[in-house]
Amino acid sequence: MSTLRLSGWGVGAGGRAGGASGGASGGAVGALVGRFRPPGDKSVSHRAVILGALADGRTEISGFLPGADCLSTIDVYSALGAEVAREGDHVSVTGAGLDGLRRPTGALDVGNSGTTIRLTLGVLAGQSFESRITGDASIRRRPMGRVAEPLRLMGADVRGTEGDLAPLSVRGGPLRPIDYRTPVASAQVKSAVLLAGLYADGVTRLTEPARSRDHTERLLRHFGVDVDAGGLWVAVRGGQRLSGQSVVVPGDISSAAYFLAAAAVIPGSEVTAEGLGVNPTRAAVLDVLGEIGARVELAGRTDTGGEPLADVTVACADLRPFEVRAGRVPNLIDDLVILAVIACAIPGESTIRGARELRVKESDRIAALSAGLRAFGADVEEFDDGLAVRGGVLTGAECDAGGDHRMAMAFAVAGLLARGETAIHGAECIDVSYPGFARQLQELSGAVRT
Ligand code: S3P
Repeated sequence: MSTLRLSGWGVGAGGRAGGASGGASGGAVGALVGRFRPPGDKSVSHRAVILGALADGRTEISGFLPGADCLSTIDVYSALGAEVAREGDHVSVTGAGLDGLRRPTGALDVGNSGTTIRLTLGVLAGQSFESRITGDASIRRRPMGRVAEPLRLMGADVRGTEGDLAPLSVRGGPLRPIDYRTPVASAQVKSAVLLAGLYADGVTRLTEPARSRDHTERLLRHFGVDVDAGGLWVAVRGGQRLSGQSVVVPGDISSAAYFLAAAAVIPGSEVTAEGLGVNPTRAAVLDVLGEIGARVELAGRTDTGGEPLADVTVACADLRPFEVRAGRVPNLIDDLVILAVIACAIPGESTIRGARELRVKESDRIAALSAGLRAFGADVEEFDDGLAVRGGVLTGAECDAGGDHRMAMAFAVAGLLARGETAIHGAECIDVSYPGFARQLQELSGAVRT
């Protein structure tokens, strides 16, 4: 188990850095200053391997995220018969074609990755062989019924353990198309149904209560598949073949968000994330930072494989508290933890509501945030579906990541804002989505202690 230790200078709710000395990074004491290149987008990296495996021919992926979750996706699709070779952040996939996957010899293991298990359930639903899929203790607690249910309606035989938990076994085959209204806005559910829809005889359509991230739709189109979409619905006709492509993965906005949000509240800070994915179904965190008063600038906008990217600069300013309501949650889902952390340094009360989904992520993030931030001395109120945080001054704390990569990084930012020493135990889970996070934190802030 590894511990991440850092020293903060204390950022008061009045927006002032405390402390008189300490070497940060060339800006004001404790400030974050500099440019950085965030790791590849986790959602796009998974999808590029999955679509590459289902495609005819070769797919070349650059900027791939070599985090533990995406490596699990490579393992799973290798076990299913795709040929996958990786060198650093470059991955080559020789696709098996839509009908060329083979029965794996053992259970497929997704590790900690919710995206791998849910999207793969959609793929397995289209296979005539039987397979079994599972993951770590966190995965085995997370709800899979939301995916299993529409797949059963399509004709797949999906059986979970004690209801709809992993391990699950799947026997699929030719599927029937459905017109499905999902009760949860989830890109993982939507993507599983779309992938299964490739194996259905007709048009499969899914409607969400709010629009989730649309990476699957964009990447399917990039691989030559017609995907229709309008408002909250999306539809795909079965039997369309995918052709191997070159995919450039944009920088992950949810990884960069730790540094961008920290820069927004720490006086004297200005950081630029280069080549950042700014897909509108993901970029709401930048909108929130702008709305509460931070300086947010986008430069050099381009497009890669249907995904927009830009160099994004965030600089500190006096901030106002924020209110996040249900309608906005799907586009902020992975970024709510870091927003809750910076709320600790914003005068007044910030609230997040309508976010019950946070309770079924890698950990129960509402419970983890309220307990963790209270350890730093924060004034936090916990609701069933969110939190209220009243800004004040944090003090360094000792806490545990609880096996959740996003909690570990969020607590690291709390440590930056706090006065004194912080230790985050179990920090190795950060490798799930951001290998190199501690080094990047050190380069931008100078706050890491070894
Ligand atoms: C993801 C979708 C989101 C997100 C997860 C990645 C994806 O989950 O929290 O980190 O890549 O599709 P839900 O679809 O459950 O909201």
